[in-house]
Amino acid sequence: MAFSKILVLCSSITGLTLAATETTSWPLYSPTSAPMFQLSSDSQIAFYLAETIGLSNWAGANTGEVLRIATQVVPNDFESVYEAYYYMAEQLFSVAESVDTTKDPVSAREAYYHAATYYRGADFFLHGNQSDPRLDSLWDQQLDSFNKANALLNIPGERFTVKAHSETVGDYEAIGIFYAAYPDNCRGARPTIMVGGGYDSSQEESYHSTCAQLLSRGVNCVTYEGPGQPTVRRHQNLGFVADWWSAATPVVDYLSTRQDVDMSKLALNGLSFGGILAPIAASRDSRYSAVIAIDGFHSAQDAFGQQFPAELIHLFNTNATAFDNAMNSIVANSTYPSSLRWVIGYGLWAFDTKSPFDWFTRLGEIVMSPEVVRDLHMPVFVAKGQDDLSTLDQPEVAYKMLTTGRANGEALTHWHVFNTSMGAGEHCSLGAESQLWQVTMEWLSDVWGGLSYADNKPAYHGQSRE
Ligand SMILES: *[C@@H]1O[C@H](CO)[C@@H](O)[C@H](O)[C@H]1NC(C)=O
Ligand SMILES: *[C@@H]1O[C@H](CO)[C@@H](O)[C@H](O)[C@H]1NC(C)=O
Ligand SMILES: *[C@@H]1O[C@H](CO)[C@@H](O)[C@H](O)[C@H]1NC(C)=O
Ligand SMILES: *[C@@H]1O[C@H](CO)[C@@H](O)[C@H](O)[C@H]1NC(C)=O
Repeated sequence: MAFSKILVLCSSITGLTLAATETTSWPLYSPTSAPMFQLSSDSQIAFYLAETIGLSNWAGANTGEVLRIATQVVPNDFESVYEAYYYMAEQLFSVAESVDTTKDPVSAREAYYHAATYYRGADFFLHGNQSDPRLDSLWDQQLDSFNKANALLNIPGERFTVKAHSETVGDYEAIGIFYAAYPDNCRGARPTIMVGGGYDSSQEESYHSTCAQLLSRGVNCVTYEGPGQPTVRRHQNLGFVADWWSAATPVVDYLSTRQDVDMSKLALNGLSFGGILAPIAASRDSRYSAVIAIDGFHSAQDAFGQQFPAELIHLFNTNATAFDNAMNSIVANSTYPSSLRWVIGYGLWAFDTKSPFDWFTRLGEIVMSPEVVRDLHMPVFVAKGQDDLSTLDQPEVAYKMLTTGRANGEALTHWHVFNTSMGAGEHCSLGAESQLWQVTMEWLSDVWGGLSYADNKPAYHGQSRE
């Protein structure tokens, strides 16, 4: 979910030659006037640091470790981000390995989770070079570390795979992790939320940012990934597909076989770009009783397009080769804003293409279209971060479509702005997930007939069998 504010930084790129501007000519960052305190003057790196430090709220990091990493990263220097995160990952991984888990499983679990987070951080800015072998090796390290932590939970998340089929890429496997709120089906079938990431977030990150919130209320959490998302992209070599229901529907089939899932209380959550993917999936599957779009989205192509210099959009519309050349030169050149370089470089990798023209075209095929909206018959929650400049007016556009483009749309669509004054105004209310889920769960309680949630405190970090 790591889009940052391309808008501000791109406004200084002008002319068909795309001359890069000096860093010093960008608006200077001032901590006191910013919506959120930035840990780097590079807004894209600052955004990612905020994403990482936010995981400290639920055992995915420690604030001191991330603040130290922040001292080591150099603005516009993606390799420095790798080095800073990788050093911390390796340190925490050896701490974890040194712990005798029979004596202190908590310490080992925490250190493994932190290491996994920092291995992901080391990877995050490297995607501009798709041949970089670290894209795979770092991911193996993060998966290994995360799995070791997960195994130390009292109720470990259960990894599963399901057969899927897409019109564009053929047969593949969607993957997921099921986190039961209670052990051994001891409380019977529970409400369940399926959690999907967006353009870049992983299942592993979602455990800390989202699942912990749900489990602590006695709600099962299921993370899943389809084509284009981090592990499926790597292990099956598949980029994003427009028929996203192909990834989500088989997961619902699997859930319907589980005794601990109350299929009458199943919600689908999408974060960021997932705010498009979730409605697409739900338009083809009536088994969801609710859809949650954390930062509602109509079209990522629109959102990015509005933030790219007009010259680039002109090239996109008139000359694919020239567009490819211009975009590729931006990704490779660190004098351009990090936000722009990252969003293109990461997108090319996630869409499994070398052509920016191909990437941007396919981005435009993954939209919350009028047909998707028409076929969404369940309640939909649309959230917006007040100062989320990366999505511009996309939540408003999505909300308008959902209220006017389907039967009973006004009654079925809920809107909420998370405010900057309360620290929740960033993209996806990053780092203020307690506020995000307070509001979302209150709405879901109504959708689910006035449901009261449990106080399943032990689910925080590691569920208890007591
Ligand atoms: C990066 O862009 C700047 C400004 O356009 C240019 O002067 C420089 O030569 C470029 N660097 C490379 C390696 O292409
Ligand atoms: C990309 O990574 C590969 C493998 O490390 C390396 O050989 C190549 O030079 C890199 N390409 C660029 C443009 O840095
Ligand atoms: C498109 O751009 C390429 C690369 O800049 C250029 O060689 C070609 O002549 C352009 N084609 C047209 C029709 O303008
Ligand atoms: C958020 O800010 C808006 C505009 O300033 C205000 O109307 C609204 O009451 C605030 N909401 C919350 C929950 O504070």
